[in-house]
Amino acid sequence: MVALIVAYTKNRVIGNKGQIPWRIKGEQRRFRELTTGNVVIMGRKSYEEIGHPLPNRFTVVVSNTKKYEAENCTTERSLEEAIARAEKLCPGKNIYISGGAGLYKESIDLVEKMYITEVEAVIEGDTYFPEFDESLFVKTIDERVEGDIPFTYVTYSRKEGEKKMAKTKIFIDGSEGTTGLRINERFQGRDDIEILTIDSELRKDTEERKRLINMSDITILCLPDAASREAVSLVENENVRIIDASTAHRTESGWAYGFPELSKDFRNAIKTGKRVAVPGCYASGFISLVYPLVAGGILPKDYPVSSFALSGYSGAGKKTIAVYESEDRPGEFASGREYALTQQHKHLKEMQKITGLTRTPLFSPIIDDYYSGMVVSVPLYADMLSKKHTPETLLSFYREYYQGEKFIQVSEEDDEIAASGFLAGNQLSGWDGMKIYVTGNEERIVVSAQFDNLGKGASGAAIQCLNIMLGCDEAKGLQL
Ligand SMILES: NC(=O)c1ccc[n+]([C@@H]2O[C@H](COP(=O)([O-])OP(=O)(O)OC[C@H]3O[C@@H](n4cnc5c(N)ncnc54)[C@H](OP(=O)(O)O)[C@@H]3O)[C@@H](O)[C@H]2O)c1
Repeated sequence: MVALIVAYTKNRVIGNKGQIPWRIKGEQRRFRELTTGNVVIMGRKSYEEIGHPLPNRFTVVVSNTKKYEAENCTTERSLEEAIARAEKLCPGKNIYISGGAGLYKESIDLVEKMYITEVEAVIEGDTYFPEFDESLFVKTIDERVEGDIPFTYVTYSRKEGEKKMAKTKIFIDGSEGTTGLRINERFQGRDDIEILTIDSELRKDTEERKRLINMSDITILCLPDAASREAVSLVENENVRIIDASTAHRTESGWAYGFPELSKDFRNAIKTGKRVAVPGCYASGFISLVYPLVAGGILPKDYPVSSFALSGYSGAGKKTIAVYESEDRPGEFASGREYALTQQHKHLKEMQKITGLTRTPLFSPIIDDYYSGMVVSVPLYADMLSKKHTPETLLSFYREYYQGEKFIQVSEEDDEIAASGFLAGNQLSGWDGMKIYVTGNEERIVVSAQFDNLGKGASGAAIQCLNIMLGCDEAKGLQL
């Protein structure tokens, strides 16, 4: 049990000038009785007031500036870490948070009981017990002790069902890149999540990252591949779950591939997984189109698949974004630019592995002069498919495959966008879903996925995975 224990006056004073501003015989009896043989957690100043670990109990001091270590005493940097340490070192013991003001304030929402000594006097002081919502507790009066200054031992027990929902602690490693920033923005206003922030100057400090990763329930990696691998190697707490937005682990065993719409197994692997890789943006479009065709026996696994794609420049990272947005950028940045000309694009591995194709696809992406949004297309010869299909029958196939999926929309036969003759890369920018089109004719068919490379293609997909892992609405905090 985690409880707090405090003595305060009628004006809620707990301390003055670093000391308890009263001496009342017997007032500390209950503190002694309850905490002996158990654990106390206290702030650095309260500890220094006492000057040594309390006998016959374990003390955890909370401090970021000092370290107190002894046989029955240790130091941690936050209340969460102090509780976790106490639970690990003293399993089954009661944990009493014993002040001062900051620790009391932080712990009111999480303790089961508050053991309070009400000192029946108004005494001057500079440190106070925080206000709290009494309606969340049942108050019992345990004992009143008469004297010059009478006092009463009371207990506040949290009412059944009133325990505040513990927030999921999220650490974003790499919170200053495009994906990290967008994920952070999308968490604004969510009351089920607590973001563990890293001091900007320490964001590349391995020890500090390690501390926060191991304190988190879920760490989201928005890092280059090598740094992502390093981050995973820093995990010591086996309860920590990782969502990796980099390319590092997408085809690695033990990692769930974060595209839940592909099948029940994909969604389940994300839900229960400790390690989840967020798909690459182009790969999301490609796989959303090709996986169902292979799984449905329409596209032979050895079909020589090719794909072309158009993307806004935001997918290319901070440096390229800066060039696109600079005034003296090279003239060719004003046009679409084909790239990955050596056929070694880094998404190819996952495109092939997840779809099960036997040949590596031919993939030709184009980066263009607009911020975000993409279209990924796969051209198909109708007579090379395993079953006879037309654009209309493929549309109904996709519609059935993705039926009930919130994030994937399949266009209607009379879709206005398709009828206009153009699929614009930026059409769905700012939206977190994906739209599938089938165009062409009876001989030559093109299947296309249109979406935001920063939405379903990156931070939106990461949050969708997180929501699945938390068991909440898959679209929470997302734009659909
Ligand atoms: N009446 C009572 O029942 C009772 C009980 C306890 C204390 N008191 C009184 O309260 C006063 C002391 O309380 P206080 O609020 O001034 O100080 P405190 O909580 O005892 O100590 C404050 C220090 O603890 C560390 N700390 C506290 N909360 C932290 C957190 N959440 N995360 C990281 N570090 C944290 C910091 O140490 P660093 O600066 O080293 O990082 C901070 O400066 C004294 O007057 C004492 O007599 C009264």
